Amino acid sequence: MNILSLIRDRFRPALSHLTEAVDPLLEMIRPAQDASFGDYQANCAMPLGKQLGLPPREVAQRLVDELDVEEFCEQPEIAGPGFINLRLKIDWLDAQLGAALSDARLGVDETSSPTVVVIDYSSPNVAKPMHVGHIRSTVIGDCLARVLRHLGHQVIGDNHLGDWGTQFGMIIYGYKHFVNMSAYRENPVMELSRLYQYVNRLVEFHAGKIKLPLQEEKITQLEGQVNEQMSVCRDTDGKQKKKQEKLLRKQQSQLAQLRKERDGLAAKLSQVTSDPDLLRVVEEHQGVGVAVLQETVRLHAGDETNLALWNEFLPKCREEIQRVYDRLDIHFDVEYGESFYHDQLAEVVDQFLDAGLARESEGAICVFLEDWEAPMIIRKKDGAFLYATTDLATIRYRMETWQPDLMLYVVDHRQSEHFSKLFTTARSWFKSEVEYRHVGFGTVLGRDGRPYRTRSGDTVGLESLLDEAVAKAHAVVVENDQRKPEPEMSDEERMQVARVVGHGAIKYADLSHNRTSDYEFDTDKMLALEGNTATYLQYSYARVQSIFRRAGAEARRHAQQVTTFDLGHPAERALALQLLRFSESLEEVLIDFRPNQLTDYLFKLAQMYSVFFEHCPVLKAETDGLRHSRLALSDLTSRAMKQGLALLGIEVVERM
Ligand code: ARG
Repeated sequence: MNILSLIRDRFRPALSHLTEAVDPLLEMIRPAQDASFGDYQANCAMPLGKQLGLPPREVAQRLVDELDVEEFCEQPEIAGPGFINLRLKIDWLDAQLGAALSDARLGVDETSSPTVVVIDYSSPNVAKPMHVGHIRSTVIGDCLARVLRHLGHQVIGDNHLGDWGTQFGMIIYGYKHFVNMSAYRENPVMELSRLYQYVNRLVEFHAGKIKLPLQEEKITQLEGQVNEQMSVCRDTDGKQKKKQEKLLRKQQSQLAQLRKERDGLAAKLSQVTSDPDLLRVVEEHQGVGVAVLQETVRLHAGDETNLALWNEFLPKCREEIQRVYDRLDIHFDVEYGESFYHDQLAEVVDQFLDAGLARESEGAICVFLEDWEAPMIIRKKDGAFLYATTDLATIRYRMETWQPDLMLYVVDHRQSEHFSKLFTTARSWFKSEVEYRHVGFGTVLGRDGRPYRTRSGDTVGLESLLDEAVAKAHAVVVENDQRKPEPEMSDEERMQVARVVGHGAIKYADLSHNRTSDYEFDTDKMLALEGNTATYLQYSYARVQSIFRRAGAEARRHAQQVTTFDLGHPAERALALQLLRFSESLEEVLIDFRPNQLTDYLFKLAQMYSVFFEHCPVLKAETDGLRHSRLALSDLTSRAMKQGLALLGIEVVERM
């Protein structure tokens, strides 16, 4: 039962008698902002009036006259310039609640048009441990998979691991030249990760040394332009002056940006040159940039040593990553990774050439696209294949294997150009109906508002952050328990609760932010007992459970047998309506793949329950009937919270 869809369905015929473009008008029917006007509001009479050249109130009246909503709405009211306000009938709400009460799905129907969806998510590069940036793709993708499945779609979750790229060239090179064997035996992944960072530093140093003079040159050039532009500004008056000054400001800010970049680069270089040991190594490994690429090329060409190293490293790296997935209860249907597609790449390029979709340009094989100046390269001059080639092979494989209707890529927004090009190319290749979507997201920031890093500038390992959150959650749980007249929990239970709360806090903080914005990673805020956090919701859930514990053994059964609800108090009615809007929130999640629609819903539900609880005594209700009705509302609330959180990948605890 989706109330909003039901209302929209009833508006459809009425609207279609007045206009052809019905869908955008249907979107203007929304839940009311202010409950005193009603439960839902339709704002479509205003634009429609404009379109038809009629007064909006008259249009609203015509719509209302035709609208067939009597079975569930009071007489619609027209307000202000032409708003149509709808209030649901209390008997109808009552009946719907009764249906939800006896339904394990709480009145959320499965879709009548199931689709097949491939979700590409998490997909870390495995040569280094997971860091905080990986949390986003992992939990957003997981949540979308859960919601889609719950609504009856078929989902294939694919962890497209980066297990074949230049990072392996880095660690192979590092292993051959710098490995500390005892450290490797002790903790291979840590040593590989150190090697990765070490080699990366060498590569960056040499690249930086080439880049620095080029940057200096650009700066000198721009300084000249700025000086010239200054005199142009001096010599111009009137209308032109403003324009010239604007240009000057633009150049000046470009110059400032370039200088900043140059200073950063120079500082990085001098960090190396001021360390004599490092400097010696750097000088001994002049050609490291090329050498690393060659190690990758050798691996791809089947070189025995490199392949053996890869086979040795890969399971260790994957084990490390798997530990995080296990902790976070993340599961994939398939994890092919880039290496799986390796021997299909040559054939993909041939297909493109044969179909005339790609052609050679300066030795490389390129797909030229209408809206972009730079083509998408699918084979480099030296014969190497690229990230894009693998992605095309992956799409082909998915199409052949699952015939999906939709492919979602939950990947950092910085890759949006790659995906735009990829999708355009894939569309011209397959000419099928499949829809592609890049579900992008912003950056995880530290408290200084910059990408989250340690003081030394390294990215922060994900596991240590999970540990930190669990440790802090443990402190909160212990404190809470000790504050009770009689502490209730064993050490083991406290630890278990801390894990659920700590992991939940991290997931929820990520999911509750609008995915396209950046957010600040702050474990204290995430674990706050008040506000829009998992902790608050888990606490609210546990509180409802404690009411049932106090109410005695029969309470749950009485509650679940309720056939008519008492919704006389506004807080009861508001809570009832919110409970019935669960399915709307899930539909909202899927409109633009935004899990925060669900977190918002749950937060609001918890707040409404809290208002209800304050105004409507449950255990001390005046009559048995009222007590049962309120217990039933409580039962529904706790079930909706538990299911809602489960769809976010978050668990609940019975007490905390
Ligand atoms: N491994 C890539 C990275 O870490 C992300 C892969 C995303 N998925 C894809 N099919 N390209 O940047």
